[in-house]
Amino acid sequence: MYLVTLMGNLIIILVIGSDQHLHTPMYFFLANLSFIYTCFTCTIVPKVLVNIHSQHHTMSPTGCLVQMYFFLTLTLLDDFLLSVMAYDCYVAISLPLHYTTLMCPQRCLLLVATSWLFSDLLAFSHTFLMAQVSFCASHSIPNFFCHLLPLLKLACSNTSTLQIMMFTESALSGVVPLSCVFVSYAHIMHTIFRIPCTRGKHKVFSTCGSHLTVVTLFYGSLFLVYFQSSSSYSAEFGIVASVVYTMVTPMLNPFIYSLRNKDMKQALLRLLSWGRCTAA
Ligand SMILES: *[C@@H]1O[C@H](CO)[C@@H](O)[C@H](O)[C@H]1NC(C)=O
Repeated sequence: MYLVTLMGNLIIILVIGSDQHLHTPMYFFLANLSFIYTCFTCTIVPKVLVNIHSQHHTMSPTGCLVQMYFFLTLTLLDDFLLSVMAYDCYVAISLPLHYTTLMCPQRCLLLVATSWLFSDLLAFSHTFLMAQVSFCASHSIPNFFCHLLPLLKLACSNTSTLQIMMFTESALSGVVPLSCVFVSYAHIMHTIFRIPCTRGKHKVFSTCGSHLTVVTLFYGSLFLVYFQSSSSYSAEFGIVASVVYTMVTPMLNPFIYSLRNKDMKQALLRLLSWGRCTAA
């Protein structure tokens, strides 16, 4: 799964980077998403492989904090980028005449840079708050990746204030981008149902449909992982949700985008034939 994820996402970045036809905001965002998924699996899966190899299924709180910082940054980035992509779909479908002005390269770069900035700041504040907690020395974490709830359960100090702060922060960073996705798709549906579907619209919607699939997978597992109260949290269920969230979504992303998308398929074929020509 690790190799498929790495290969799939790297191929997407390569195809989009090498093909002039795919130099549009939508595909630049997709390349960014693949880049994030590549990094994402690199913060999680090597640790899983080490755990399997060593039969040692735990993590130290310090290792956990380090992993948590990278992991949260990438999750938040994923979160923000998916909402940026929803906005991009909205502009492409509902405001096609304004697309080139609304999604000019500077604006795209600004959206991506802002996402990086905010996810870094939020992840840092979470990790900083978590570093204030004192952990009982004998405890280690029975999982391969550290999310906030199991870590808080191991704390020896009182964490109720911290829990409220973290919950508010994660709720905000989940709810704001998700509302952006909902509003964008509400507008898209409105446009699609009002105007008879032309071929161009159909094509755009096939990409937005892929986006919607990824959004559903991502938020579905995210809510399963984060939005259980800490008392009802069960370790086994948490691990299943974590696997979907950290390994299945990044692995499926390239397939979801390339199998249903004619432009991606053509670009992939062009890249393959170019490779064959230069090799010959
Ligand atoms: C990410 O998006 C920006 C803005 O559209 C683009 O310039 C950049 O090349 C993208 N990064 C990757 C890795 O494709």
